[in-house]
Amino acid sequence: MKWSVFVGHWSQINRKVSSRGSYNHRSIQQQPATRPELSQKVVNLSDDRLSFFERMSESRLVSELPSPAFLVNLPTAQRNADRMLERFRQLRVTLRPHMKTHKTLEGGVIMTGGTRRCIAVSTLAEARFFADGGFDDILYAFPVSADKVEQCAILTERLEVFSVLVSEFDTLPRLAARTLAKGKVWHIWLKVDCNNGRAGVFVDQPEAFDLALKIGRSAAMKLDGIYAHCGNTYHCHSVAEIQAVAENTTEKILAFCSRLAEVGVTTRSSIGSTPSCSLPVPRMGALSEVHPGNYFFYDVQQLHLGSCRAEDVAVRVLTRVVAHIRHRGQLLVDCGWTAISLHGHGRLPSGYAVIQDHPEIRLVEMSQEHGLIDASEGQEMDFEKFPLGAALFLIPYHSCAAAAMHSVYHVHDGDTVLETWTPCRGW
Ligand SMILES: Cc1ncc(COP(=O)(O)O)c(C=O)c1O
Repeated sequence: MKWSVFVGHWSQINRKVSSRGSYNHRSIQQQPATRPELSQKVVNLSDDRLSFFERMSESRLVSELPSPAFLVNLPTAQRNADRMLERFRQLRVTLRPHMKTHKTLEGGVIMTGGTRRCIAVSTLAEARFFADGGFDDILYAFPVSADKVEQCAILTERLEVFSVLVSEFDTLPRLAARTLAKGKVWHIWLKVDCNNGRAGVFVDQPEAFDLALKIGRSAAMKLDGIYAHCGNTYHCHSVAEIQAVAENTTEKILAFCSRLAEVGVTTRSSIGSTPSCSLPVPRMGALSEVHPGNYFFYDVQQLHLGSCRAEDVAVRVLTRVVAHIRHRGQLLVDCGWTAISLHGHGRLPSGYAVIQDHPEIRLVEMSQEHGLIDASEGQEMDFEKFPLGAALFLIPYHSCAAAAMHSVYHVHDGDTVLETWTPCRGW
């Protein structure tokens, strides 16, 4: 999509969302048949976890929120979640949504279609947080290390199913040394690398197969499955390239599982990233599971990859013009890197983020709390157009990174703030 077309999209989206009458807070509370847990939980969570100051500063209108503020468009996020659920329901593949992008109970309820079952998390803090929130069948999808064995053991004893990710032989005796109560065994997914180039034992290495066999044949362990994250889809330049990576990763994992089955070890297969799961190839229908996460919010990066359309991006950072710096032709805004992260650096013609509806300006510099906005190439800053206090909506390059900067999300439909969500933080 051409840059100007993309930026132009946002004014239409705003109008569409604002004119939607059906998604308001009252209608969510009045739909117990479809989302009972969510509406009930939202009230309790807000009451319990927001500090006095946060409650006092709570506004019912987006335009009145103190900035910077992280905004989640609820109808859009809900639609993204529903689409992914439906896509993999049709393919008869289990969707294990990853919670790493939003890290909220409310988001987890929506992404699991209300079941609170079968999720992946990236930290033990998330694992405990979702377990406390009534979630089960949780996969801690980061290679487990010795310092975390005890916490994993407690979660294994506590939950119906808690699984860990292993990619090293050395990890096995460390797990085995911790005897589990209640007749539990260690649930393990073997992490393999299918050219993603990050974590995992390389899928074609003999050690990968030997490790799977060792886990599969151990009495104290259950080989839950083979897990590959095809994050190399993020380096692709076209949908065809993304689908080639997805196809290749799927084939490698399925072949690996078939070889295991030939020697009597049957197990599940799981791959997934938001690009591959937003554009699945038919062969992915042979997998047991997929585990994407970013699709709940999407972002500018996903838009550029072709994973989503502009109207699918559910998050923005609200910032305001704080000063006119006339001698430099710049606007000062109250969004530094602590409100959106530095992830967009050098990746966008509009600077660190896309400024909704304003292709004529770009966010060129950020320090901790300050953001500096220039006129776009070949243009002059029109200070009249951006008076002090003017609100700007920044669309993040990477929503996981931008969300991680905030301790509260303001969940809205159009200009109406419906709820606040409090994400899990820490490790
Ligand atoms: C191990 C693992 N699994 C799943 C995911 C989810 O992928 P995505 O963010 O593309 O949805 C990630 C994301 O980084 C990951 O690291």
